[in-house]
Amino acid sequence: MHNNTSHINYGFQHEDRPPPYNPPPYTPNSSQGVYPTVPQYPTTPQTHINTHHTATAGHPHSNMARKAARRNQWPCIAAVVIFTLVLLGTAAVLIWYFVFETCATGRRCEESGSCISSWQWCDGQRDCPGGEDESQCFRLFGSDFQLQSFSPKDQTWKPVCSLRWDNTIGRKACSEMGYDRADYVKSGQVNLASGASEGYMMLNTDYPNVIPSGLAHSYLSESAFCPFDSVVTLRCVDCGKSTARTRIVGGDVVTSRTRWPWQVSLQSGGFHMCGGSIIGSSWIVSAAHCFQERPRPSQWRVYAGYLTLTEMMFASGNAVSRIIPHPGFDSSTNDNDIALMKLSTSLQLSSSIGPVCLPNAGLYFSAPRESFITGFGALSSQGPASNELQEARVSLIDRSVCNGRLVYNGQITNTMICAGKLQGGVDSCQGDSGGPLVTQENSVWWLVGDTSWGIGCALRNKPGVYGNVTAFLPWIYEQLQKNN
Ligand code: ARG
Repeated sequence: MHNNTSHINYGFQHEDRPPPYNPPPYTPNSSQGVYPTVPQYPTTPQTHINTHHTATAGHPHSNMARKAARRNQWPCIAAVVIFTLVLLGTAAVLIWYFVFETCATGRRCEESGSCISSWQWCDGQRDCPGGEDESQCFRLFGSDFQLQSFSPKDQTWKPVCSLRWDNTIGRKACSEMGYDRADYVKSGQVNLASGASEGYMMLNTDYPNVIPSGLAHSYLSESAFCPFDSVVTLRCVDCGKSTARTRIVGGDVVTSRTRWPWQVSLQSGGFHMCGGSIIGSSWIVSAAHCFQERPRPSQWRVYAGYLTLTEMMFASGNAVSRIIPHPGFDSSTNDNDIALMKLSTSLQLSSSIGPVCLPNAGLYFSAPRESFITGFGALSSQGPASNELQEARVSLIDRSVCNGRLVYNGQITNTMICAGKLQGGVDSCQGDSGGPLVTQENSVWWLVGDTSWGIGCALRNKPGVYGNVTAFLPWIYEQLQKNN
């Protein structure tokens, strides 16, 4: 179609344009420049035009007719060309928008906002400037700590075959997840019912003879099955160990240091201000609101392994090197009320000082699950801190119930979880903030929440509200990795 148009066009060009055998220099802002797809000053078809020209030169009548025809056709050709250009332009914009703006065929790097193709996610190669594409490629699943690896091929999590797996790669995987190398415990194995997973990841056949220099992920390949259906379990830190037996009724003074070994007292200026939970030998989980007025690490000391505030008066506690409140913390709603604290020197873990487990993927704790809260907080609203560590047994409360008109009337967001007793009488209180809400599953204790807020203490229909730790896991692991 283009060829035809231009052919016709050439024959009618000689009248008010310079003769084709003497083409003018092209100027970009001349009117011809508007229609770049129509070759109006071609060098090759010149003979064509010349022939045409000489053949029609002696006929003024037909010349005038052509002139008229040309005037009639010009707008038509221009319209077709403009239409084509607009169409092409729109298509280009749409394709660009689809590929980059929606990032529909790829994934977006959080920090730079650039879009990389999805198979580059967790391929063992850092593609995002911030490295986010390789930052959450391992996770622990279920109460038996199965290791799962993100498959860039299928965009799903897959168990890892225990074939060839050893503590060297186990330690590497833990450290890439954000855990301290020194906290590493062991790798184990568990038999999955065959076909339990859509696919598996397996260590390359040349491991450990050939050890790639990159991330642990680049040691793995897709596999349809695992020999003997045996998959890796991984303990990155010796967490969740307690001598507590859930049958014991709470609301009591804690008399054993090995019951809640993750409970710490966060003190500023020699006063107990908040609670916290040990999650690694140098990491504490607490509440963001605890650090609003005192945001500097030098303003705090952390006391681990004590049952009374008096004992702490004769100890020096641990210095803090970093305080990381959740960037989304909103002090008017208490949304995202969680913070991480990094200790200047790591704790000596023992039976009375030890971490609680962060919930693994696939663990869902729902109402009315039996849970425990502990702390040195007030024994009654407005009261002073308690000298002795207290514990209480509570139930998780469904979010929709907690958001009920008579309870918190819609104030409970997804980053919060309610626990207590709707009839009142058992609750956390001022000074318990940041401290643990824990539950036991498969003989391991898991951190479900961090004490955040409530109306009064232990009032009817006003249960305690806790930060929903499960909702914060990606953020927590991101911080552990960045500060490892
Ligand atoms: N915000 C309080 C603190 O700073 C914790 C309040 C918990 N209240 C409750 N009713 N459970 O210690």
